[in-house]
Amino acid sequence: MKESSNSKRIYLSPPHLGTLESELVKEAFDSNWIAPLGPHVDAFEREFSDYLGVAHAAALSSGTAALHLSMRLLNVQPGDEVICSTFSFCSSANAILYEGGRPVFIDSETDSWNIDPDLLEEELHECARRGKLPKAVIAVDLYGQAADYDRILPICRKYEIPLVEDAAEALGASYGDRKTGTFGKVGIFSFNGNKIITTSGGGMLVSEDRALVERARFLATQARDPAPHYQHSTIGYNYRLSNILAAIGRGQLRVLPERIEARRRNFEFYHRALSRLPGIGFMPEAGFGRCTRWLTCITIQAESFGATPETVRLALEDHNIEARPVWKPLHLQPVFSGFRVRGGRTSEKIFATGLCLPSGSSLSSNDLERIVEIISGTQNGTKKNHP
Ligand SMILES: Cc1ncc(COP(=O)(O)O)c(C=O)c1O
Repeated sequence: MKESSNSKRIYLSPPHLGTLESELVKEAFDSNWIAPLGPHVDAFEREFSDYLGVAHAAALSSGTAALHLSMRLLNVQPGDEVICSTFSFCSSANAILYEGGRPVFIDSETDSWNIDPDLLEEELHECARRGKLPKAVIAVDLYGQAADYDRILPICRKYEIPLVEDAAEALGASYGDRKTGTFGKVGIFSFNGNKIITTSGGGMLVSEDRALVERARFLATQARDPAPHYQHSTIGYNYRLSNILAAIGRGQLRVLPERIEARRRNFEFYHRALSRLPGIGFMPEAGFGRCTRWLTCITIQAESFGATPETVRLALEDHNIEARPVWKPLHLQPVFSGFRVRGGRTSEKIFATGLCLPSGSSLSSNDLERIVEIISGTQNGTKKNHP
């Protein structure tokens, strides 16, 4: 039975704003800095790079824009290959295609669900044998968890291939004592509405290399040459973050540690309540780092649980609760079907069994209890209705 349509919807990962954000936005209005660029953009970049412990940051209109610029910065040319995790959102690979490059997909390992270093090494070995190495490697930190950089970095160094770290989903996570986003030549983040902190839409590109970040800012502001008139010697983009959105970002950054703890508490609640059920598993937290649990992802073995992930998703939807399948591996996406993949079975298996549960930092314990009760009720096809 469907709940009444006016019951408050529980979203997968909604924005969670406080009062500081609106005070900072009001300041932007009052000072008339309603522009792309302005003092909040500069301050957001400074505060963000301080938080991460990285030298330079450029605030951009989206994580996808940051990925696209990283391809430009690394000089990806038409026909160049770029390695990319297959278990990811489409924009990790789209950015390669924007520059005419060709993604080569690599499967996940099971400890973190991120790019498998053994398969990466195999692929690069093969490429070297054929005499043409990829131009870059994009490693994704999925669902709030770092990839295994102690293994990935030496491989990239051995073949002298720059690493781009797509940490769009993993702001605030760590690998050892270092924050995610700081391992590559370039790191990127997203402040899209569903991320752990949001500016409604926005992104950041970070690097230790000052010249690279300055080049990113130049390309992101239409590649305007230093001349009093408008002069352009290369193709640029309109990719900068506005001063108003940067004001939101500054407020959000201050509450990031609380948001991480709230999401980890959600995970612990789900784990306590659901891990005892047959057939239910969770995305592992690899021993090498600390995950933010941006999203709590479970796996459901339908034979032992007695219901498929889709049955569980629809049961939650009947109660106006949003859950989502995990990312469909990119090598299975029609748009990327012509590109090479190494491995694939691991991410395909996670895709067949995975489900992302509501994970917002504003979820109440009552919400969590309802969600758990509905999921438990789907076991063995016994779809109970919450009162
Ligand atoms: C792994 C990953 N990379 C890149 C992006 C793109 O970020 P944006 O939506 O800010 O363009 C996202 C999600 O939005 C993502 O999940």
